[in-house]
Amino acid sequence: MKTTLLTVAAALGLAVTGAQAQNYPNRPITMIVPFAAGGPTDVVARIVTDHMSRTLGQQIVVENVAGAGGTTGITRASQAQPDGYTIMMGHMGTHGAAPALYPNLKYDPTKDFAPIGLAAGTPILIVAKKDFPANNLQEAITYLKKNGDKVNMAHAGVGSVSHSTGVLFNSTIDIKPTFVAYRGTGPALNDLMAGTVDLMTDQIVNVAPQIQAGNIKAFAIATPERSPALQNVPTTKEAGLPDYQVSAWNAVFAPKGVPQEVVTKLNDALVKSLEDENTKKRLADLGGVLPTAEERTPAGLQKLVDSEVARWTPVLKAAGATGQ
Ligand code: MLT
Repeated sequence: MKTTLLTVAAALGLAVTGAQAQNYPNRPITMIVPFAAGGPTDVVARIVTDHMSRTLGQQIVVENVAGAGGTTGITRASQAQPDGYTIMMGHMGTHGAAPALYPNLKYDPTKDFAPIGLAAGTPILIVAKKDFPANNLQEAITYLKKNGDKVNMAHAGVGSVSHSTGVLFNSTIDIKPTFVAYRGTGPALNDLMAGTVDLMTDQIVNVAPQIQAGNIKAFAIATPERSPALQNVPTTKEAGLPDYQVSAWNAVFAPKGVPQEVVTKLNDALVKSLEDENTKKRLADLGGVLPTAEERTPAGLQKLVDSEVARWTPVLKAAGATGQ
Protein backbone atom coordinates (compact mmCIF):
# COMPACT_ATOMS: atom_id res chain seq x y z
CA MET A 1 0.00 0.00 0.00
CA LYS A 2 2.73 2.43 1.11
CA THR A 3 4.73 1.86 -2.07
CA THR A 4 1.65 2.53 -4.22
CA LEU A 5 0.91 5.84 -2.45
CA LEU A 6 4.54 6.91 -2.81
CA THR A 7 4.50 5.99 -6.47
CA VAL A 8 1.28 7.94 -7.03
CA ALA A 9 2.63 10.93 -5.11
CA ALA A 10 5.84 10.89 -7.08
CA ALA A 11 3.91 10.61 -10.33
CA LEU A 12 1.64 13.47 -9.26
CA GLY A 13 4.69 15.48 -8.32
CA LEU A 14 6.17 14.92 -11.75
CA ALA A 15 2.77 15.64 -13.36
CA VAL A 16 2.42 18.94 -11.44
CA THR A 17 5.94 19.92 -12.50
CA GLY A 18 5.10 18.96 -16.06
CA ALA A 19 1.88 21.00 -16.02
CA GLN A 20 3.61 23.95 -14.36
CA ALA A 21 6.42 23.83 -16.91
CA GLN A 22 3.91 23.57 -19.74
CA ASN A 23 2.02 26.70 -18.58
CA TYR A 24 5.19 28.57 -17.63
CA PRO A 25 5.20 31.44 -17.12
CA ASN A 26 1.72 32.26 -15.85
CA ARG A 27 2.76 34.99 -13.38
CA PRO A 28 5.56 37.62 -13.11
CA ILE A 29 9.16 36.43 -12.81
CA THR A 30 11.69 37.89 -10.36
CA MET A 31 15.24 38.49 -11.54
CA ILE A 32 17.64 38.98 -8.63
CA VAL A 33 20.41 41.47 -9.44
CA PRO A 34 23.06 41.05 -6.74
CA PHE A 35 24.19 44.69 -6.73
CA ALA A 36 22.68 48.14 -6.18
CA ALA A 37 20.46 49.64 -8.88
CA GLY A 38 22.19 51.68 -11.56
CA GLY A 39 25.39 49.63 -11.84
CA PRO A 40 26.52 47.46 -14.76
CA THR A 41 24.81 44.26 -13.64
CA ASP A 42 21.55 46.13 -13.13
CA VAL A 43 21.85 47.94 -16.47
CA VAL A 44 22.47 44.72 -18.43
CA ALA A 45 19.64 42.98 -16.56
CA ARG A 46 17.10 45.70 -17.35
CA ILE A 47 18.13 45.90 -21.00
CA VAL A 48 17.86 42.19 -21.76
CA THR A 49 14.77 41.49 -19.59
CA ASP A 50 12.83 44.28 -21.32
CA HIS A 51 12.48 42.19 -24.49
CA MET A 52 12.49 38.84 -22.63
CA SER A 53 9.31 39.94 -20.83
CA ARG A 54 7.60 40.49 -24.16
CA THR A 55 8.54 37.05 -25.48
CA LEU A 56 7.48 35.34 -22.25
CA GLY A 57 4.28 37.36 -21.92
CA GLN A 58 5.03 38.05 -18.25
CA GLN A 59 6.81 40.93 -16.52
CA ILE A 60 10.34 40.19 -15.30
CA VAL A 61 10.70 42.25 -12.13
CA VAL A 62 14.28 43.17 -11.15
CA GLU A 63 15.00 42.87 -7.44
CA ASN A 64 18.32 44.36 -6.27
CA VAL A 65 19.81 42.27 -3.45
CA ALA A 66 23.29 43.69 -2.76
CA GLY A 67 26.07 42.66 -0.40
CA ALA A 68 29.26 40.61 -0.12
CA GLY A 69 30.42 41.25 -3.66
CA GLY A 70 27.18 39.91 -5.11
CA THR A 71 27.27 36.59 -3.23
CA THR A 72 24.38 37.57 -0.92
CA GLY A 73 21.95 37.94 -3.80
CA ILE A 74 23.21 34.89 -5.67
CA THR A 75 23.00 32.75 -2.53
CA ARG A 76 19.38 33.79 -2.08
CA ALA A 77 18.62 33.09 -5.75
CA SER A 78 20.33 29.70 -5.59
CA GLN A 79 18.02 28.67 -2.72
CA ALA A 80 14.80 29.81 -4.42
CA GLN A 81 12.12 27.37 -5.61
CA PRO A 82 13.42 25.81 -8.87
CA ASP A 83 10.21 26.73 -10.71
CA GLY A 84 11.53 29.42 -13.04
CA TYR A 85 9.87 32.30 -11.17
CA THR A 86 13.17 33.36 -9.58
CA ILE A 87 16.12 33.84 -11.90
CA MET A 88 19.29 35.89 -11.52
CA MET A 89 21.89 37.96 -13.34
CA GLY A 90 25.28 36.59 -12.34
CA HIS A 91 28.68 37.50 -13.69
CA MET A 92 32.41 36.92 -13.77
CA GLY A 93 32.59 37.89 -10.08
CA THR A 94 29.72 35.91 -8.58
CA HIS A 95 30.23 32.90 -10.88
CA GLY A 96 34.00 33.11 -11.45
CA ALA A 97 36.05 34.89 -8.78
CA ALA A 98 33.89 34.31 -5.69
CA PRO A 99 35.02 30.76 -4.79
CA ALA A 100 38.63 31.99 -4.48
CA LEU A 101 37.61 34.73 -2.05
CA TYR A 102 34.82 33.14 -0.02
CA PRO A 103 35.99 29.84 1.53
CA ASN A 104 32.51 29.38 3.03
CA LEU A 105 30.60 30.33 -0.12
CA LYS A 106 27.11 28.81 0.14
CA TYR A 107 26.98 27.86 -3.52
CA ASP A 108 29.20 26.26 -6.14
CA PRO A 109 28.99 28.30 -9.37
CA THR A 110 29.79 25.21 -11.43
CA LYS A 111 27.11 22.96 -9.88
CA ASP A 112 24.29 24.83 -8.16
CA PHE A 113 22.66 26.57 -11.09
CA ALA A 114 20.80 25.96 -14.31
CA PRO A 115 22.70 28.17 -16.77
CA ILE A 116 20.38 29.97 -19.21
CA GLY A 117 22.81 31.96 -21.37
CA LEU A 118 25.33 34.79 -21.58
CA ALA A 119 23.76 38.26 -21.78
CA ALA A 120 26.76 40.50 -22.55
CA GLY A 121 30.55 40.68 -22.54
CA THR A 122 31.72 43.74 -20.61
CA PRO A 123 35.31 44.93 -21.23
CA ILE A 124 37.09 46.47 -18.24
CA LEU A 125 38.36 50.05 -18.13
CA ILE A 126 40.82 51.75 -15.81
CA VAL A 127 39.06 54.98 -14.79
CA ALA A 128 39.78 57.84 -12.41
CA LYS A 129 38.20 60.99 -11.04
CA LYS A 130 38.40 63.99 -13.38
CA ASP A 131 41.17 65.77 -11.43
CA PHE A 132 43.34 62.70 -10.94
CA PRO A 133 46.91 64.05 -11.44
CA ALA A 134 47.71 62.10 -14.63
CA ASN A 135 46.71 62.46 -18.26
CA ASN A 136 47.56 58.98 -19.47
CA LEU A 137 48.15 55.49 -18.10
CA GLN A 138 51.93 55.82 -17.81
CA GLU A 139 51.61 59.07 -15.83
CA ALA A 140 48.96 57.38 -13.68
CA ILE A 141 51.23 54.39 -13.00
CA THR A 142 54.11 56.72 -12.06
CA TYR A 143 51.82 58.64 -9.68
CA LEU A 144 50.35 55.45 -8.22
CA LYS A 145 53.78 53.93 -7.56
CA LYS A 146 54.74 57.05 -5.59
CA ASN A 147 51.38 57.62 -3.84
CA GLY A 148 49.59 54.27 -4.02
CA ASP A 149 48.88 54.04 -0.30
CA LYS A 150 47.18 57.48 -0.36
CA VAL A 151 44.91 56.55 -3.28
CA ASN A 152 41.34 55.27 -2.70
CA MET A 153 40.13 52.59 -5.11
CA ALA A 154 36.39 51.84 -5.36
CA HIS A 155 34.82 48.41 -5.85
CA ALA A 156 31.49 46.63 -5.36
CA GLY A 157 32.56 44.26 -2.62
CA VAL A 158 35.13 41.47 -2.28
CA GLY A 159 34.83 39.10 -5.23
CA SER A 160 32.95 41.54 -7.43
CA VAL A 161 34.19 42.27 -10.94
CA SER A 162 35.47 45.69 -9.89
CA HIS A 163 37.26 44.14 -6.91
CA SER A 164 38.80 41.19 -8.78
CA THR A 165 39.94 43.30 -11.72
CA GLY A 166 41.21 45.93 -9.28
CA VAL A 167 43.27 43.32 -7.42
CA LEU A 168 44.67 42.17 -10.76
CA PHE A 169 45.55 45.75 -11.79
CA ASN A 170 47.21 46.50 -8.46
CA SER A 171 49.31 43.34 -8.57
CA THR A 172 50.24 43.99 -12.22
CA ILE A 173 51.80 47.37 -11.34
CA ASP A 174 52.65 46.46 -7.72
CA ILE A 175 50.66 49.10 -5.83
CA LYS A 176 48.52 48.86 -2.69
CA PRO A 177 45.79 51.53 -2.77
CA THR A 178 43.10 51.68 -0.09
CA PHE A 179 40.00 49.78 -1.18
CA VAL A 180 36.59 51.41 -0.63
CA ALA A 181 33.65 49.00 -0.91
CA TYR A 182 30.23 49.99 -2.30
CA ARG A 183 26.97 48.08 -2.79
CA GLY A 184 27.56 48.40 -6.51
CA THR A 185 29.62 50.38 -8.97
CA GLY A 186 26.63 52.57 -9.69
CA PRO A 187 27.05 54.31 -6.31
CA ALA A 188 30.85 54.02 -6.67
CA LEU A 189 30.71 55.90 -9.98
CA ASN A 190 28.78 58.73 -8.29
CA ASP A 191 31.64 59.16 -5.83
CA LEU A 192 34.21 58.93 -8.62
CA MET A 193 32.40 61.78 -10.41
CA ALA A 194 32.25 63.73 -7.14
CA GLY A 195 35.97 63.15 -6.67
CA THR A 196 35.53 61.52 -3.26
CA VAL A 197 37.14 58.32 -4.56
CA ASP A 198 40.11 58.28 -6.90
CA LEU A 199 40.29 55.17 -9.07
CA MET A 200 38.32 52.14 -10.24
CA THR A 201 38.46 49.28 -12.70
CA ASP A 202 34.91 48.76 -13.94
CA GLN A 203 32.74 47.41 -16.69
CA ILE A 204 32.30 49.49 -19.81
CA VAL A 205 28.48 49.44 -19.66
CA ASN A 206 28.67 51.44 -16.43
CA VAL A 207 31.43 53.96 -17.16
CA ALA A 208 31.05 54.59 -20.91
CA PRO A 209 28.44 57.39 -20.67
CA GLN A 210 30.46 59.28 -18.04
CA ILE A 211 33.68 58.90 -20.05
CA GLN A 212 31.88 60.17 -23.17
CA ALA A 213 30.52 63.10 -21.13
CA GLY A 214 34.00 63.94 -19.79
CA ASN A 215 32.93 63.44 -16.16
CA ILE A 216 35.65 60.90 -15.40
CA LYS A 217 39.02 60.00 -16.93
CA ALA A 218 39.62 56.72 -18.78
CA PHE A 219 43.27 55.65 -18.99
CA ALA A 220 42.80 52.45 -20.98
CA ILE A 221 40.54 49.56 -21.89
CA ALA A 222 41.88 46.13 -20.99
CA THR A 223 40.99 44.38 -24.27
CA PRO A 224 43.12 43.68 -27.36
CA GLU A 225 41.06 46.12 -29.48
CA ARG A 226 39.53 49.53 -28.70
CA SER A 227 35.80 49.63 -28.11
CA PRO A 228 33.63 51.08 -30.91
CA ALA A 229 31.77 52.92 -28.13
CA LEU A 230 35.00 54.56 -26.83
CA GLN A 231 37.25 54.91 -29.87
CA ASN A 232 39.49 57.52 -28.20
CA VAL A 233 40.37 55.31 -25.25
CA PRO A 234 43.61 53.38 -25.89
CA THR A 235 44.01 49.71 -25.13
CA THR A 236 46.28 48.76 -22.23
CA LYS A 237 48.72 47.42 -24.84
CA GLU A 238 48.82 50.79 -26.64
CA ALA A 239 49.18 52.50 -23.26
CA GLY A 240 52.21 50.38 -22.29
CA LEU A 241 50.59 47.83 -19.95
CA PRO A 242 50.04 44.81 -22.22
CA ASP A 243 49.94 42.37 -19.29
CA TYR A 244 46.66 43.83 -18.02
CA GLN A 245 44.07 42.12 -20.21
CA VAL A 246 40.68 41.40 -18.63
CA SER A 247 37.04 41.35 -19.63
CA ALA A 248 33.96 40.54 -17.60
CA TRP A 249 30.57 39.15 -18.58
CA ASN A 250 27.00 39.05 -17.30
CA ALA A 251 24.78 35.98 -17.65
CA VAL A 252 21.32 34.67 -16.75
CA PHE A 253 21.00 31.71 -14.38
CA ALA A 254 18.17 29.85 -12.70
CA PRO A 255 18.41 27.71 -9.57
CA LYS A 256 19.49 24.10 -10.16
CA GLY A 257 16.56 21.76 -10.74
CA VAL A 258 14.24 23.93 -12.83
CA PRO A 259 12.42 21.81 -15.44
CA GLN A 260 14.13 21.61 -18.82
CA GLU A 261 11.05 23.14 -20.47
CA VAL A 262 11.52 26.25 -18.31
CA VAL A 263 15.21 26.47 -19.21
CA THR A 264 14.29 26.22 -22.88
CA LYS A 265 11.66 28.97 -22.62
CA LEU A 266 14.01 31.31 -20.72
CA ASN A 267 16.86 30.65 -23.14
CA ASP A 268 14.58 31.22 -26.14
CA ALA A 269 13.51 34.57 -24.65
CA LEU A 270 17.14 35.58 -23.99
CA VAL A 271 18.25 34.64 -27.51
CA LYS A 272 15.32 36.57 -29.05
CA SER A 273 16.26 39.55 -26.86
CA LEU A 274 19.84 39.48 -28.15
CA GLU A 275 18.52 39.33 -31.73
CA ASP A 276 16.26 42.35 -31.17
CA GLU A 277 17.70 45.45 -32.90
CA ASN A 278 16.81 47.81 -30.04
CA THR A 279 18.37 45.55 -27.41
CA LYS A 280 21.50 45.12 -29.52
CA LYS A 281 21.79 48.88 -29.98
CA ARG A 282 21.32 49.65 -26.28
CA LEU A 283 24.05 47.16 -25.33
CA ALA A 284 26.41 48.27 -28.14
CA ASP A 285 25.99 51.98 -27.31
CA LEU A 286 27.29 51.16 -23.81
CA GLY A 287 30.19 49.12 -25.19
CA GLY A 288 28.62 45.78 -24.36
CA VAL A 289 29.81 42.85 -26.49
CA LEU A 290 27.13 40.55 -27.89
CA PRO A 291 27.67 36.89 -26.96
CA THR A 292 28.53 34.36 -29.67
CA ALA A 293 25.89 31.82 -30.68
CA GLU A 294 27.55 29.20 -28.45
CA GLU A 295 27.77 31.55 -25.44
CA ARG A 296 24.02 32.11 -25.73
CA THR A 297 23.37 28.43 -25.01
CA PRO A 298 23.10 26.86 -21.53
CA ALA A 299 25.97 24.49 -22.39
CA GLY A 300 28.12 27.39 -23.59
CA LEU A 301 27.52 29.30 -20.37
CA GLN A 302 28.29 26.22 -18.25
CA LYS A 303 31.60 25.88 -20.13
CA LEU A 304 32.39 29.57 -19.48
CA VAL A 305 31.64 29.29 -15.75
CA ASP A 306 33.80 26.16 -15.41
CA SER A 307 36.72 27.88 -17.16
CA GLU A 308 36.34 31.18 -15.28
CA VAL A 309 36.34 29.55 -11.83
CA ALA A 310 39.43 27.57 -12.85
CA ARG A 311 41.07 30.72 -14.20
CA TRP A 312 40.37 33.22 -11.44
CA THR A 313 41.22 31.06 -8.43
CA PRO A 314 45.01 30.91 -9.03
CA VAL A 315 45.11 34.50 -10.35
CA LEU A 316 43.52 35.95 -7.20
CA LYS A 317 45.53 33.75 -4.86
CA ALA A 318 48.76 34.79 -6.66
CA ALA A 319 47.68 38.42 -6.32
CA GLY A 320 47.26 37.88 -2.59
CA ALA A 321 43.54 38.67 -2.64
CA THR A 322 41.75 37.77 0.55
CA GLY A 323 38.07 37.30 1.03
CA GLN A 324 35.93 37.47 4.18
C1 MLT B 1 30.84 44.42 -9.93
O1 MLT B 1 31.03 43.23 -9.87
O2 MLT B 1 31.70 45.30 -9.81
C2 MLT B 1 29.44 44.77 -10.17
O3 MLT B 1 29.16 44.45 -11.48
C3 MLT B 1 29.12 46.13 -9.88
C4 MLT B 1 27.68 46.40 -10.15
O4 MLT B 1 27.06 45.75 -11.00
O5 MLT B 1 27.20 47.30 -9.48
